[in-house]
Amino acid sequence: MPIWTKESGPAAEAAGRSARPRHIAIIMDGNGRWARSRGLPRTAGHAAGAETFRKITRYCRDIGLEHLTVYAFSTENWKRAEEEVSSLMGLLKKYLLEAIATMEEERTKLYVMGDLGRLSPELRELSARALDTAEHVNGMQVNVCFNYGGRDEIRRAAQKYALDYAAGQAGELTEELFSSYLDSRSIPDPDIIIRTGGEQRISNFLLWQSAYAEYYFTDTLWPDFTPAEIDRAIEVCSRRERRFGGTK
Ligand code: FPP
Repeated sequence: MPIWTKESGPAAEAAGRSARPRHIAIIMDGNGRWARSRGLPRTAGHAAGAETFRKITRYCRDIGLEHLTVYAFSTENWKRAEEEVSSLMGLLKKYLLEAIATMEEERTKLYVMGDLGRLSPELRELSARALDTAEHVNGMQVNVCFNYGGRDEIRRAAQKYALDYAAGQAGELTEELFSSYLDSRSIPDPDIIIRTGGEQRISNFLLWQSAYAEYYFTDTLWPDFTPAEIDRAIEVCSRRERRFGGTK
């Protein structure tokens, strides 16, 4: 039985099915190629990608998604040219300011997820303000992964757990306990992970959380991605059978 069916209500929920996925995560790839094909600098591709991100966020909210997680800046992205790095930092700042001002009206909460320690004091302060503002908002949660790497997240979680264990503040390690040390604590695992831009790999994204996710790969470059492709990803994945390691 697919996990997302047209049926809903207590019986479907008891069987582990719901009408819609709760959480979609996206690797927004292809901004650079989109820009190059138009003779524009890579930074223009990211600016166009940020617009697509806003459009897709609204659409996901409107179809009732609970969580949308996007990969905006990886722990490896520091290797890019300084101009590109600083343009991505600028886009985060712009988005944070906008989100803080409009979260309530947009019915969308924002959480910046990753190792924020390497970000500027201004970006850290804005991320904290966004988190405070989100406390009073009802709506979909957007998790923007920034200076995020799946391995790095697991490493930081392991380190925090080790310290708590040594101090006698944590017991034996279970999967549930370990999850509570991750940046994604209190976020359900993604049902679907979409990657745009034609590559078919995970690139260090949500390594722990993607254990049972369905993947949807598309050649569409991120700035060209549309809400119709969100529908298509849900439809394609809903036809797959998810058994979570069990049998038919
Ligand atoms: C990968 O495409 C994309 C990124 C590294 C950045 C993603 C950022 C955005 C879509 C902007 C939204 C950001 C915020 C902060 C809200 P690429 O540049 O690697 O593309 P390429 O593979 O074609 O070179």
